Amino acid sequence: MTCRIAVFGTGYLGATHAACMAELGHEVLGVDVDAGKLAKLESGEVPFYEPGLTEVLERNLEAGRLRFTSSYADAAEFADVHFIGVGTPQKKGEFAADLTYVDSVIDQLAPLLTEPAVIFGKSTVPVGTAERLRARARQLAPAGDDVDLAWNPEFLREGYAVRDTLHPDRVVLGVDRALPGRAVEVAREVYSQLLDEEIPFIVTDLATAELVKTSANAFLATKISFINAMAEVCEASGADVTVLADAIGHDARIGRRFLNAGIGFGGGCLPKDIRAFMARAGELGADQALTFLREVDNINMRRRSRMVELARDAAGGSLLGARVSVLGAAFKPDSDDVRDSPALNVAGQIQLQGAAVTVYDPQAMDNSRRLFPTLNYATSTLEACAGADVVLVLTEWKEFRELNPDVLGTVVRGKVVLDGRNCLDVDRWRTAGWQYRGLGRAASEAVVG
Ligand SMILES: NC(=O)c1ccc[n+]([C@@H]2O[C@H](COP(=O)([O-])OP(=O)(O)OC[C@H]3O[C@@H](n4cnc5c(N)ncnc54)[C@H](O)[C@@H]3O)[C@@H](O)[C@H]2O)c1
Repeated sequence: MTCRIAVFGTGYLGATHAACMAELGHEVLGVDVDAGKLAKLESGEVPFYEPGLTEVLERNLEAGRLRFTSSYADAAEFADVHFIGVGTPQKKGEFAADLTYVDSVIDQLAPLLTEPAVIFGKSTVPVGTAERLRARARQLAPAGDDVDLAWNPEFLREGYAVRDTLHPDRVVLGVDRALPGRAVEVAREVYSQLLDEEIPFIVTDLATAELVKTSANAFLATKISFINAMAEVCEASGADVTVLADAIGHDARIGRRFLNAGIGFGGGCLPKDIRAFMARAGELGADQALTFLREVDNINMRRRSRMVELARDAAGGSLLGARVSVLGAAFKPDSDDVRDSPALNVAGQIQLQGAAVTVYDPQAMDNSRRLFPTLNYATSTLEACAGADVVLVLTEWKEFRELNPDVLGTVVRGKVVLDGRNCLDVDRWRTAGWQYRGLGRAASEAVVG
C-alpha cells in the first residue's frame, strides 16, 4: 500500500530516508529549512557523499514519487505520515543534546494537523523526549488525540546508508503502551516490504525505543575505546594491538568488528550521543551508571593527542617547520562528513605546533575547507605528499589502503609513514624502505631505521 509521507530534515539521515521511502513505492515530500540543500536535492544532486544515493534520488524524482519543499503547510496538506529527521547536536559548552530543531518541527507541524496523522521520530534523542513531544503535538494539533507520535530510531551507517535503510538489521518502534494508536499499523504499512523480508520488528514503549539507539551507540563507542585502551598498554609493553584484536576477535562472544585500534571515533553521532546520554542519565539521577562513558570519551580523545606526539617524534622532536601530509579528513571512509573528525582535528593540532600541513581526502575537501580554512589542501595523494617529511594516514579510504609505497616514495622528502588507522600493509611499506609506525604497536617492532 502506498503511503503519503513527509520527512522533516533532509541531511544525511533525512535525505536518505526520503529517497528510500520513495524507492519502496511511497509518495514522499522532503522538508528542510535550508534552501540551498533543497535546490540541490530537487535537481537530483545529493548535497553530501553517500554511495548509491544519487541513483535512488534521481530514479524517484523522475518517477514523480519524490519532491522537496520548505513549506510545512504543503507537508501537512500532502502527508498523513511524518518522519522527524532533523539534527540533535551537542549544546555549546554542555554535554546535553540541543533539542531546538526537533521541538521546532513539532511546533510548526502540529498546529497544521487538522486530520488524523502519525509522526515518527527518527532523530537520536535523550530518553523522555518522545513522551514530551507526543503530548505537545496532541495539545497543538487541531486533530488532537487523532495525532499519534511514535519513536522509530535510525541505525544507518554513513557509507552504507541506502542499504541500511532498505535492509536494516531491525526496525524498532516505541509507542505509548497505555494509549496505543495507529502507529504500529501505519509502520507496518510503511515498512511492509522490509517486514516481508522478515527483518525483526521490535515494538516497545517510547523510552525503550529511545534508549535502544543511545545504548547501541554507547556500546559501539565503548568497544572502540576498549581496543584503544589496549593499544595504550601495547605501546607501553611492546605488544601489537592488531594481532591482539585478531586473536581476541576470534572469540565469538567478543567479535572482531569495531576492534580496530587507531585515532578513534568521531563524526556527527557517537561523540555527541555518548555525551548526551551521560547528561540525561545525570538528570534522571542515574549518572553513576554511565560514568564509564566519560572514560570512553577520554580514551578516545587521548588517541588524537597520541597521534600528534608520534608525528612530533617522527619529525625529529619538533614539528616547527616540518612538512606534514595528512591523508584523510572525513571521520571515516566512504563519507564526506567531517563533524568532529579525528583526522582533521589531528591535522589542526599539528599545524598549531608549527608544521606546514597539507590535507587530501577523496570526498571531504569542501567540508574540510569550510571547517579548517587555514590548512593547505591538495587535489591528490601525490600532490599532498610532495616534499613531505612525514605522511599520516588518518582515514582508511580504500585509495589509501592500496597506496603504492614505491610510487609515493619518489615524491616525499622523508619516507616516514604514520598509520593512524592500522590499515596499511606493514611489510610492504617497510620493504619499500619506509619507516612505518602504527598506533598500538611498539616502535621497535614497527620502525625500520
Ligand atoms: N548521520 C547519521 O549517520 C545518523 C545515523 C543515525 C541517526 N542519526 C541522527 O539523525 C539526526 C539527523 O542527523 P543528520 O546527520 O542527518 O544531520 P544533518 O545535520 O545532516 O541534517 C539535519 C537537517 O535538518 C534540517 N533542519 C533543521 N531544522 C529544521 C526544521 N525546523 N525543519 C526542517 N528541517 C530542519 C537541517 O537544515 C539539515 O538539513 C540526528 O539526531 C542524528 O543523531 C544520524
